[in-house]
Amino acid sequence: LESGLARTPQLGWNDWNSFGCNVSDTLIRQTADAMVSSGMAAAGYRYVNIDDCWSQRTRNGSGDLVPDPQKFPNGMKALADYVHGKGLKIGIYSSAGLTTCAGYPASLNNEQRDAKLWASWGIDYLKYDNCGDTQGKSGQQRYTAMRDALATSGRPILFAICNWGTDSVGSWGPATGNSWRTTGDIAGNWNSVMGILDSQPGWMSYSKPGAWNDPDMLEVGNGLSDTESRAHFSLWAVLNAPLIAGNDLRTMSAATKAILTNTEVIGVNQDWGGRQGNRIADNGNSEVWAKPMANGSAAVVLLNRASSTATVSTTAAQLGLGGAASYSVRDLWAHTTSTTGSTISASVPAHGAAMYLVTGGTGSTTGTFALRGSQSGR
Ligand code: DGJ
Repeated sequence: LESGLARTPQLGWNDWNSFGCNVSDTLIRQTADAMVSSGMAAAGYRYVNIDDCWSQRTRNGSGDLVPDPQKFPNGMKALADYVHGKGLKIGIYSSAGLTTCAGYPASLNNEQRDAKLWASWGIDYLKYDNCGDTQGKSGQQRYTAMRDALATSGRPILFAICNWGTDSVGSWGPATGNSWRTTGDIAGNWNSVMGILDSQPGWMSYSKPGAWNDPDMLEVGNGLSDTESRAHFSLWAVLNAPLIAGNDLRTMSAATKAILTNTEVIGVNQDWGGRQGNRIADNGNSEVWAKPMANGSAAVVLLNRASSTATVSTTAAQLGLGGAASYSVRDLWAHTTSTTGSTISASVPAHGAAMYLVTGGTGSTTGTFALRGSQSGR
């Protein structure tokens, strides 16, 4: 969506993966504090997002949504002011149906009213789900109505479509939202992360600045091992996915913090060229994912899905970087640089990934870059 927002994939946090319906003013304030004190804000994270279950069970007499006074005793405007005071932005949630997935009132037929209310609170981001009675309206109709309501709300509000890849969202999502979910809900285990990953090839051509494929929020530090978390974060980075942390930022381990604040990996996700990566090799449990970078380098993830260590390899030619005698290989997890011939190879632990930035020895911007051709839809 050309709204000026999400020119690179949005970075933030959302309460759902760790807290479900247990959302509150206290949680959001403490999370905003932790986003700053952990270094995540400095690494680029901005949005602190509230998910389902924030409102009362019914609209008020004038037809407006009302924050649950137990969960949000200070109201949403005061909370938004607090988050803004930290230099961050705040997100809210509703659904393109009569009710949310948890049964709270949602925004179908109330798009203008709700968008104006959120704008008056200072909301910066809307996650818009796909639950509740749709009254026979198509996904495109329902999400377009909210897009248009946000556009006239008086405030820039990032629009994150959450319709799980349904209703051919690839065909209308890029003109309607800043991102759209491609798949169902992620869970904090390796099989879930790999299952979602398997559905991502095929979506690449829809992605561009302002309009991103969303394979769902992160489970880094949320049920995955550190090795699995690094692989998950690496893969979501090359997919140009919104990086929305889903763990408890207040209590995360040093390892989780180091993963989420790895600015070299985040830099791949935020590359201004905005070309999504894709799977370029699939040899059973060994996969190679690569993303063309704006400067002509290739970001590459060597993924080992097996339950024991394996060597995973690719070549400069596979990456579209053929023709140089040697290549510079930056290890984005070890933060070291080495030089190699045409093979890029790593011993990768079980359920793990290595991630590199590979640059042609003679200056790769002069070389050809095969992945570019497959991005021609953009
Ligand atoms: C379904 C969405 O896909 C989830 O991310 C979450 O927002 C829940 N609904 C909330 O009910």
